[in-house]
Formats: sequence, C-alpha cells, structure tokens
Amino acid sequence: MHKIALVTIALSLIAAPALAGPKEDAVAERQAFFKQLGGNMGPLAKLLKGDYDAATAQQHADAIANLTTKDISGLFVEGTSTADMPGKTEALPVIWEDMDGFAAKYKALGEAAANLKAEAGKGKAQLAAAFGQTGAACKSCHTSFRD
Ligand code: HEC
Repeated sequence: MHKIALVTIALSLIAAPALAGPKEDAVAERQAFFKQLGGNMGPLAKLLKGDYDAATAQQHADAIANLTTKDISGLFVEGTSTADMPGKTEALPVIWEDMDGFAAKYKALGEAAANLKAEAGKGKAQLAAAFGQTGAACKSCHTSFRD
C-alpha cells in the first residue's frame, strides 16, 4: 500500500507541469512549430540581402523541408480556435470548417519546401526564386487561416 501511495505521488508530480491541459499543449506545440519555420526563413532572407553562402542556405532549407514533413493535423484539436481561446491563439475557426483546404495549404508548403531544399545550395538566384515560392505558401495559408 505504502509503495502504491508513493508511486501515485511521484506520478502526480511528473504530471504537474502538463496540467495546462491538452488544448494548451497543442496550441503551444503548433506555435513552437511555426516559430521554427520562421526561425529558418529569417536567415534565408538575410542571405538574400547580404552575402550568399551555400552551406548556410542549405542548412536552413533542409531544416524547413524537414519540418514540413511533420504531420501537424494532430495539433489542431477541436476547441482551440481564436473563438475558443481568444488571445491565446491566432488559429481561425475556419480551419475546422475547412480542414481539407487547410491541409491543401500545408501540402503546398511541403512541396515548396522540397523545392527550396533542392535549389537553396545552387546559388543566390535559385535561392531567391525558391524562397519566394515558399514565402508565398506561408502567406497563402496565413491569409485564409491565421488571424
Ligand atoms: C497550413 C497553414 C499554414 C502554413 C502553410 C504556414 N502557417 Fe504559419 N501559422 C499558421 C497558423 C494557423 C498559425 C497560428 C497558430 C496559433 O496561434 O495557434 C501560424 C502561426 C505562425 C507564426 C506565429 C507563431 C507563434 O509564435 O505563435 C509564425 C512565425 C509562422 N506561422 C510562420 C510561418 C512560416 C515562416 C511559414 C512558411 C514557411 C508558415 N508559417 C506556413 C498556419 C500556417
């Protein structure tokens, strides 16, 4: 009995930091995901403005392409839109009304990112074209689905 009680206490201590709840966790995780995308797009923009460096360009393009292979559908759980959690998220309710449309925008980003990965290390002009295409895919989804 004593042992069980101790285990119970230990488990509740482990679980404590996650008490924010699965919805908050999903929002935090998807925001961290998008932040990583932004964190790799920024340096590419800098490379285009300044001195192009193939290795650095490739590194960030690889990171973006890898990120976009992730299935993010599980992070858009019901009840986590701007209507449900105002001030906590920028995910518009229309995402849940048009999951197919949302998924299509994400798929388009994945394709743009794969091309970015293929082109980024070839030269500044190639990076510029692929970067523009990728940025357009980001913007296209934000326009429809992000507040
Ligand atoms: C399929 C749709 C979609 C695509 C494609 C997309 N985003 Fe987003 N983005 C969102 C949504 C929805 C949010 C709001 C998330 C939230 O607040 O819960 C968001 C939020 C963000 C944020 C804010 C994160 C934070 O700190 O809260 C950044 C930065 C961002 N996106 C960058 C990008 C970049 C860069 C790209 C392209 C490489 C991109 N996004 C592509 C849908 C998308």
